[in-house]
Amino acid sequence: MKHLLSIDDLSVDLVQEIFETAADMHDVQTREVKKLPALRGRTVVNMFFEDSTRTRSSFEIAGKWLSADVINISAKGSSASKGESLRDTVLTVCAMGVDGLVIRHPASGAARQVSEWVDASVVNAGDGMHEHPTQALLDAYTLQRRLGSLEGRHVAIIGDLTHSRVFRSNVKLLTKLGAQVTVVAPPTLMPSGIEPWSKEAGFETSYDVDAVLPDADAVMMLRVQRERMSGGYFPSAREYTVGYGLTKDRLALLKPDAPICHPGPMNRGLEIAADAADAAQSVVLEQVSSGLAVRMAVLYHLLAGEEGSA
Ligand code: CP
Repeated sequence: MKHLLSIDDLSVDLVQEIFETAADMHDVQTREVKKLPALRGRTVVNMFFEDSTRTRSSFEIAGKWLSADVINISAKGSSASKGESLRDTVLTVCAMGVDGLVIRHPASGAARQVSEWVDASVVNAGDGMHEHPTQALLDAYTLQRRLGSLEGRHVAIIGDLTHSRVFRSNVKLLTKLGAQVTVVAPPTLMPSGIEPWSKEAGFETSYDVDAVLPDADAVMMLRVQRERMSGGYFPSAREYTVGYGLTKDRLALLKPDAPICHPGPMNRGLEIAADAADAAQSVVLEQVSSGLAVRMAVLYHLLAGEEGSA
């Protein structure tokens, strides 16, 4: 594997290989000395043109624990803020001898475009409303550890699907791994064209949270992305919570052992109540620590062999 741009790049066998490596990396997290020499001499650049807490810091720690040299560049504070183009920015950085480029960008397709310009291995850390493949990997890894296998398990994905790259990557990966997926959103936040896609890809759509929750083996709540909505958002915050939020009352509809996931950042009180976010069955923080292990595994698979070198 040269790049990780989309879940479409991954076979089921490769996903399971990444998960096996992630399990080894998870063990590293419990050690007193966490560093492994696997990427000694490699340079990884995290280039973030959109804000991030989890993805950026976990890729930074992942690279450092694998002994790579890691630097972080964000739009604010780089010459991108003076108008330098994306192409000039990545070519400039890669001229310094970069092996891995982890990129987040507001434009869908940006990571693939960058991969065509540079020799470095490119990881898509979120491109607009398109994909966030390492988030889907860490979500599936977390659920597989909890549920044993995803084959035949029912996962409900609920939230602002229109603006969600996490939904797009997750529905691809979860169905690839044999899960039965139902996606739920208000009509105004259900992506246009989802019906032909859902039929082809083999997932269900619903507008009725209360009907879906009792049958779910896991529930994934997604953030209402107000920053991507121009001119306000519909329904209103109150209507959204009443119709689609994982409220304290709706917690009672869930199977008692069904993991509650959220990729973060959470809008507490909007799509997820504090009672749900902090419930015993919430795996929100487990997703974060799994994310570190999975990102270590991804960097290892991309960069530890000869193929990964620039
Ligand atoms: N889930 C996720 O991508 O979080 P960040 O935006 O904090 O990286």
